[in-house]
This record gives sequence, C-alpha cells and structure tokens, in this order.
Amino acid sequence: MPDTLTIKDNRTGKTYDISIEHDTIRATDLRQIKVHDGDFGLMSYDPAFMNTASVKSTITYIDGDKGILRYRGYPIEQLSAGTTSFLEVAYLILKGEAPTKTQLEEWRLQIKQHTLVHENIRKLMESFRYDAHPMGMFISTIAALSTFYSDARDIFDGHSRERQIHRLIAKAPTIAAFAYRHSNGLPYVYPDVELSYAGNFLNMMFNTGSSKPALHSVLEHALAVLFILHADHEQNCSTSAMRSVGSSHVDPYAACAAAAAALWGPLHGGANEAVLGMLDQIGTASKIPDFIKEVKEGKGRLMGFGHRVYKNYDPRAKIIKKLAHDVFEVTGKNPQLDIALELERIALEDEYFVKRKLYPNVDFYSGLIYRALGFPREFYPVLFAIPRIVGWLSQWEEHVLDSDQKISRPRQIYLGRPERNWIPIDQRT
Ligand code: CMC
Repeated sequence: MPDTLTIKDNRTGKTYDISIEHDTIRATDLRQIKVHDGDFGLMSYDPAFMNTASVKSTITYIDGDKGILRYRGYPIEQLSAGTTSFLEVAYLILKGEAPTKTQLEEWRLQIKQHTLVHENIRKLMESFRYDAHPMGMFISTIAALSTFYSDARDIFDGHSRERQIHRLIAKAPTIAAFAYRHSNGLPYVYPDVELSYAGNFLNMMFNTGSSKPALHSVLEHALAVLFILHADHEQNCSTSAMRSVGSSHVDPYAACAAAAAALWGPLHGGANEAVLGMLDQIGTASKIPDFIKEVKEGKGRLMGFGHRVYKNYDPRAKIIKKLAHDVFEVTGKNPQLDIALELERIALEDEYFVKRKLYPNVDFYSGLIYRALGFPREFYPVLFAIPRIVGWLSQWEEHVLDSDQKISRPRQIYLGRPERNWIPIDQRT
C-alpha cells in the first residue's frame, strides 16, 4: 500500500495524492489544493500547535498515553536512578551518546572552567530592586551575557556554539544563586569547582560563611535527580520559544532568555510555584473537597495537574513523589505533603479529572521538595530553568544544523476589516 493520503476537494471535485512520511503529511503539500490559479492554496489552522509537528528531532521521546519519557533512547527511570550525574545526562542530551570516563572528565573540566561570571555581571545584579522576582533577574542576566560574548553571534561556527553551551550551563547556577543572595541581602558566594554541579549550586545558595560546603548528601542527590528530570521535554512552550527565537539566528543567550521568559508562566514552569501557593491557600485537608468543587466549576485550576502530551501519570511525577519521601526523612515531613497526597487521591477518583485524563505532572510534587530544601517559593521556576538550559541548547543546536528549518513564521487567517479609507480625526464621528 502506498504511503499517501488522497484528498478530494469538494469545491472543485479534484483529488490530490499527498505523501505520508512518519505518519505525517507536509502542511505545504496542501498548498497545491486551489480553487483557481490565483488562489493562495489550502492551509491548516492549528492554534497552539495541537496537531502540528514543527521539527524532526532525535533528542527526547515521549509517549503521552503510556507515560514514557526517554532522553536519546534511555528511559528517564534509569537516568534518574542515582548512579548517573546531571552533567553526564547533559552530555548525553547534547551529544547524543553517553560519555566515556575520559569524555566525562573533560566535559566536567570545561564546564567548571566557566562557572565564574564577569564582575560586571555581579554589579549588574546588584542593581536589581531588593524585592525583584528571581526569575526576572535570571532572565535579564542571561540576556545580558550576550553583551559579554560577541563571539556568540557566530552561530554557524561549531567551536563558538560549544563555547557558549559550556558558558551557559556553567553560569546558570551562579546567576541563579546570586539572584537568591541578592534578594536576601547576603554576600555572593563564588563557585567551588571541587563540588558537584548540584552541590556547588547548593553551596552558593546556602553557605553562611563556613569554609565547609553547606551540603547534605541526600539533599544534594535529590536536587541532582530533579535537575535530570527537568533537563529536556521535547517541544514544550519554552523549547519552542528557544527554537523560534533562535530561528532568526540571534545568539543563544538572547534565545535562552526568551525561552526562560516562556518558562516563567504559571501554565508552564511557573506551575511549581503556583502549586505551593495553592497548597498554602487550601491550608488543611478538610478544605480539599470545597477546593475541588471550585476547580470543577471553572474557578481556577488544580495546579500541577494535566499536560498537553501526557494523558497518563507523568513519569517524572512518579519519581519525584518517591524522592519527596527520601528528602522528608532528612528534613522532617512537610504537612503539605499530606494535603498534596489527599488532593491527588481525590482528583484521581473524580469523574471530572478521570474523563479529561488529568494526572499529576512534574510540578505537582517538585515544589514540596524545593521547600524542604529551603528554597523560597518564587525561586522554583529558576530551579526548573537551570537544568532546562541543557534541553534548550540541545534543541537550538539541532535546529541550527537542520537544513529543513528556516525562520519561524506562521501564517494567519485574517478576519479583520477589508480595505477602507482613513478619515482624519476632526471628521470622525
Ligand atoms: N485543573 C482543572 N481542569 C483542567 C486542568 C487543571 N489543571 N488542566 C486541564 N483542565 C481541563 C480544562 O479546563 C479543559 O476542560 P474542558 O474540556 O471542559 O474545557 C480540559 O481539561 C483540557 O484542558 P486544556 O487547557 O485544553 O489542555 P491543554 O493541553 O491546553 O493544557 C496545561 C495543558 C498543562 C496547560 C493544563 O493542563 C493546565 O493548565 N494545567 C495546570 C498548570 C500546570 O500544572 N502546568 C504545568 C505543566 S507540566 C510542566 C511543564 O512542562 O511546564
């Protein structure tokens, strides 16, 4: 059987054979379907890209119905099982294959070498208001990095791309920690290259002057696992922003800042912050039924639930839920865990959520761990952004090297006024 789709246009009676490749038709093949010669041709209308593949990618695989997530073919459950470091996973995502010991050592050295930021970046951060949102500081400072590295504009030079990738992965935790220290009026702690990626970040955040790093191995491990789980998630809103902005050939700092801005919204990476806000607002388990009733009446959403792609339990949420118990053994249990567990239990039995296939997503339990680790609520989206930079950069590089790609430029269906004559203001009624 040929891999084609036969379309009959009932306006003209003509039929067209359109090729099918990877269970997909090319939207531009529809353009040959015309009523007359001067006709623009048929387009597809797909707000929010509900059924449009805009890239061919080899990085991350998701099966939303089965709840499967793999980076470069490796199941997320194996990558987050505790024997793999975040930088190892970052290497895998960016380069396509797991590193050998020597490659990993070299990769670690390259990242470590770039963890410091220029002192002017520190000064720039000092000028933010005392109550600036850390995600706003993070986004602005990532964008500002482009003013320090003019070589970043040479996006078709592989060495230049590699340098910017090292810099962004290395400096993101430093910038994030500086944003936290700034908000708290604390002196900035500089990177310690002897520590792991997550360990160095925790130390820059929480060290209060001791020469010993501020670390607990269980907590450091938990953060590393969270970083692994957030490293990539194929064509989500922020990654699409990265690709779309990057498609204009702007430098990766500007594109990463745009991606981070997209991540900040409460429907995307800002959901973890919103979940804790919701749990704070519910307050006690006895108020859950009223809250669920309001959600079902359309007065707000159950934050941390639902996903565009997963119509099953988000595999990351399963791992995080288990991880939360390990963390609470060290930090003591947070009473909000009970509220979250009860919310989940009730929602998963409720017809409203069952019918719409709404399950906990990655953000439902992650905020509880962040809180237990001592991060303030408004900082949670930053914790999502740090590891996701790996995914953004990997997807950006794939985009830059993809000969199928051009500048992103969707079409529209214009439904506004037809041409009319301008009337000067004193003649308008
Ligand atoms: N609570 C209550 N109802 C919901 C929820 C929710 N969290 N999510 C979806 N629905 C309902 C929605 O009202 C709609 O119902 P109806 O068909 O009666 O109009 C139906 O489910 C489909 O929802 P949708 O908004 O059309 O679905 P979407 O694919 O456009 O949105 C989503 C996906 C993640 C934006 C949405 O589920 C949501 O707003 N969830 C809460 C925010 C959240 O947790 N975001 C984090 C996403 S995962 C991390 C990430 O990648 O950023």
